Amino acid sequence: MTPGCFAGIADRFAAMSSIARTDATGGTLDPEFLAWQTSLPIDRRLLEVDVAGSVAHVEGLVAGGLLTREEGDELQAALQGLPGKVARGEVELPVEEDVHMAVEVWLRATVGELADKLHTGRSRNDQVATDLKLWTRAALARVLAALGQLDAGLDAWIARWGETPMPAYTHRQVAIPVLARLWVGAALREPLARDRRLLAVVEDEIADSPLGAGAIGGNTLPIDPQVPARALGFARPPSNPLDAVGSRDHTLTLAFACARIGQHLARFCADVIELSSDGLVTLSGAVACGSSMMPHKRNPDLFELVRGQAALRQGELVALMTTFQGLGTGYHRDLQQDKQVIFASIDGTVDCLKMITLGLEHLDLLPEPCLRALERGDAIATDLTEHLVSIGTPFRVAYRQIGALVASQRAAGKRLVELEAEDLRAAGLPLSLLEQLDVGASASKRAARYR
Ligand code: ARG
Repeated sequence: MTPGCFAGIADRFAAMSSIARTDATGGTLDPEFLAWQTSLPIDRRLLEVDVAGSVAHVEGLVAGGLLTREEGDELQAALQGLPGKVARGEVELPVEEDVHMAVEVWLRATVGELADKLHTGRSRNDQVATDLKLWTRAALARVLAALGQLDAGLDAWIARWGETPMPAYTHRQVAIPVLARLWVGAALREPLARDRRLLAVVEDEIADSPLGAGAIGGNTLPIDPQVPARALGFARPPSNPLDAVGSRDHTLTLAFACARIGQHLARFCADVIELSSDGLVTLSGAVACGSSMMPHKRNPDLFELVRGQAALRQGELVALMTTFQGLGTGYHRDLQQDKQVIFASIDGTVDCLKMITLGLEHLDLLPEPCLRALERGDAIATDLTEHLVSIGTPFRVAYRQIGALVASQRAAGKRLVELEAEDLRAAGLPLSLLEQLDVGASASKRAARYR
């Protein structure tokens, strides 16, 4: 780090108050450290939930007789107006250590001494834990909405292409004819349905309110933590204040769910990129990029970028796990770092889900090339084997007989679907195999079991 690199920013901190400092803290902070340690540029995104948390906390103070109803009303009205004022540019949040202090400092400047009562029985430790859970609640809703839209996009894609035969691949070689609905079902619908169930776990993990836990040991005042918990829609107050301020398990579960969604989307993208390079799907120009040099290109950039994003989601999960590992019980300033990571994880996940929804709209399957690929890949071989089994040949015998047939056809420069009666007679195999060569019929027959 270059010495003095915060000098410009540090000037802006000259006016900063020190509401979280006393004589015991010792003098004033070094301005460069001050500028470097602030989380305001990142946690200002918590403003709305921070205000909601404070409004609920005030309710608890009123219920406990620590504020009069009138005092509570005045504080709540001022707090509730703040996010709108900031959004409209009428108020600029004071530059403070974090959003929580910025709100309190602004409140002090706005309503005067009454603001000195706001932080009664509360610490930024239970405050930030509450904010994060409230933010997570909204974040979950965003991810679920994006998943819902992708699901609708999948329905539309399946209505267009679902019954189209295409190759399923093993080891990236043509394996067996399937219907396209089974491919997108495996690539997106089924895994994302499992991811949704994982997100339900996060919902459970954010069900209890941290408010009342204070810095780590609660407080001795007559504040019923049920009151803010209920006001904020939590199921219950904290059951252990040490755990309430230090646990970020829900963040880990959420980042893992996002990383897994990322992997699922990336796998789908890898499929699309290969299908596109094999000429079995086509992308409209709306989602394909060109080359700055080669005039003929139409590249699957949307899918490559979403595939690349999976690496970021995984990195975010690892960043959170390594931040939390080895921390003792309770709050540590290290925890401040969790926000930028989880914000990026959620924003990236929602964007990728939207991009895949858009990509699906512009992704067309090419039925004829799919059939040709199945024929070229001798994908009917397993059907022929199963036909022999159905007329009494033991599987391993039939498997070797069809294998020999594939080999002799290939030696003659032909595919299995080009079988003729003569080839079968030469191999001593029944002519009924000639009725089993339709790769499209094979796909439908196989898929009938999987509605
Ligand atoms: N800004 C901090 C965070 O985001 C909250 C402040 C808690 N600070 C403290 N000294 N206990 O985690």
